[in-house]
Amino acid sequence: MGGQASATGASEPSAGRHPGAAATAAPAAASGPCDLYASGGTPCVAAHSTTRALYASYDGPLYQVRRTSDNATRDIGLLGQGGVADAAAQDSFCAGTTCLITVIYDQSGRNNRLTQAPPGGFPGPAPGGYDNLADATAAPIGIGGHKAYGVYVAPGTGYRNNNTNGIAKGDQPEGMYAVLNGTHYNGGCCFDYGNAETNSRDNGNGTMEAIYFGNNKVWGYGEGNGPWIMADLENGLFSGVNQRYNAGDPSISHRFLTAIVKGEPNHWAIRGGNARTGSLSTFYNGPRPNVPGYNPMKKEGAIILGIGGDNSHGATGTFYEGVMTSGYPTDATENAVQANITAAGYTTSPSGPGGLTPGSKVSLRATTSCCTDRYIAHDDAGSGVTIAPVSASSGSTAKSGATWTVRAGLANSSCVSFESADRAGQYLRHANFTVRLNTNDGTAQFAEDATFCADAGHNGQGHSFRSANYPSDYLRHYKYGVYVAGQGGSHEWDSTTSWNDDTSWAVAQPWA
Ligand code: AHR
Ligand code: AHR
Repeated sequence: MGGQASATGASEPSAGRHPGAAATAAPAAASGPCDLYASGGTPCVAAHSTTRALYASYDGPLYQVRRTSDNATRDIGLLGQGGVADAAAQDSFCAGTTCLITVIYDQSGRNNRLTQAPPGGFPGPAPGGYDNLADATAAPIGIGGHKAYGVYVAPGTGYRNNNTNGIAKGDQPEGMYAVLNGTHYNGGCCFDYGNAETNSRDNGNGTMEAIYFGNNKVWGYGEGNGPWIMADLENGLFSGVNQRYNAGDPSISHRFLTAIVKGEPNHWAIRGGNARTGSLSTFYNGPRPNVPGYNPMKKEGAIILGIGGDNSHGATGTFYEGVMTSGYPTDATENAVQANITAAGYTTSPSGPGGLTPGSKVSLRATTSCCTDRYIAHDDAGSGVTIAPVSASSGSTAKSGATWTVRAGLANSSCVSFESADRAGQYLRHANFTVRLNTNDGTAQFAEDATFCADAGHNGQGHSFRSANYPSDYLRHYKYGVYVAGQGGSHEWDSTTSWNDDTSWAVAQPWA
């Protein structure tokens, strides 16, 4: 067991405030994806990310960059244990020059790090036949309210480890996921992450098992025009049991995409979803392909990123995080990992919709002159929501009751949802146009009722939050209760009196 023990009680990172953002950064999650895989009995044996820790206890380097000005290298670590990347360290080290990503470290403790891929069946474009390294600044994003960088794979770029520890061999079971940019792909061979040949050559059917993402149709393909998540099993990208077309594998192109492939004796699966919100879908779950050579598998246990098993390097894509496991993970374990990924708060820029960053905490202050000391808060008990006075001298219950974690909107990731900071899984939602705190029951109705789109504040202050399913209604306080209200509608709380003020909210520093 070289992997890290499942972490408990990880301390919070030093809570950096992100200049210019409305709120503080999210604290480290209580568990990371690899803690969840470990609790499921299928621990990570490789864990790669340039954006965040994949264990709550991880506090080491994520990746190494090399700058062209003097060839010096620098490890890029975390803002805090279990937290997100310290991209500012890269920015200052690489100021005035360019940087390449030289190493993507393995957080699992097995030293399955990824480095510049060597020549194989195909030589790479760099000196000695190696593949190119990724430009360290080519894929900037936000995560948990901070800037981070992904691994931008242009054709010719590739990473590999041909001498691994603990990765599945032969027909041994394994799982893997990757978070990718679903809008950055091509039809070249092959943007892969996963298990491949240890000599960088095509050693025949079944000698690899990796996630593929792109719209290559040379081998398999799915519904529509792509891109598709497929499994690269060598001499074939498979979208299901058939060698070519499988109807169950949809085109999928979320900006942040969760892609999953897993395999065990005569059984494998493809799953995927939106890495910003929602759950995973299963696109294939069944026997090995009905083509000779893939049952049993002959996995060799190398790891590739951005290339095919034989070092084919015609493909493009962007990688943010991914792991490989020992053992075939359950769907339930992967669903928990997906919830962890969506909570991490990936955004296209460090600041999210309306300047509200998924993963960050906020308090929402009324701007009507009556009430500028009041914040949207839930009751101590029950599901009631009011605007309640909170100040520095308030007790911790009042403070945490008025603190909300911003989430990508449950029904629309261009909007936001507000999860209670002290009652995980419970969100502000309207029902009968009255706002309350309820547990997310996973229904489409709940998602719509709990999603608000940030507009400029109607009175010129802060934001007004438009209901996703009643777009002429906005989050409003009225007689200290909280509602969704139209301007001059049929409910008492639709009153036009001070509607602009009552529907405008200052996004304040979180009380808790
Ligand atoms: O299986 C598709 C590709 O075929 C593999 O990635 C590569 O090794 C071979 O060219
Ligand atoms: O919600 C408090 C106040 O109640 C609002 O400002 C006003 O609309 C109503 O009287």
